[in-house]
Amino acid sequence: MGGIAVCPGSFDPITYGHLDIIKRAAKVFEQVYVVVLNNSSKNPLFNVEERIHLIKEVTKDLNNVKVDSFQGLLMDYAKSVNANAVIRGLRAVSDFEYEMQITSMNRVLNDEVETFFIMTNNQYSFLSSSIVKEVAKYSGDISELVPDIVEQALKDKFQ
Ligand code: PNS
Repeated sequence: MGGIAVCPGSFDPITYGHLDIIKRAAKVFEQVYVVVLNNSSKNPLFNVEERIHLIKEVTKDLNNVKVDSFQGLLMDYAKSVNANAVIRGLRAVSDFEYEMQITSMNRVLNDEVETFFIMTNNQYSFLSSSIVKEVAKYSGDISELVPDIVEQALKDKFQ
């Protein structure tokens, strides 16, 4: 398909669910920018540098993936890297309303950038960074949910 896509998110921290979406986007688009943005309704556990470090480590084998952060609107970031697409993962119906709202707002801000949704692999349909943090906080097993480096970073945070 070609083109430049942005995979935006909080990534607090990155999970196997995110990684699945990033890998699949990287197969379709020429260049994928994974960008850590601020979600004003969330209070992050990891700072932006920590989140970027973890994403870079787990995507280092993907040649067409770049990792970045941005303070501001997703559409301003998309313009700054000449992206023509935004990729979001959809897990369940419960994601739909929120995604429709931000996609519609983004289209008002810039209708030249199209948003595409990738259905999350069934294996990860229940998975979220919040759930992973909750389990990690009480020393539950998260080895099937996040890469090793993320598991270690969570252990360090909750020690
Ligand atoms: O992983 P998340 O928290 O679901 O990602 C949401 C995110 C960070 C992509 C969204 O909150 C976002 O785009 N934030 C930047 C500000 C913005 O452009 N908001 C959309 C217009 S309302």
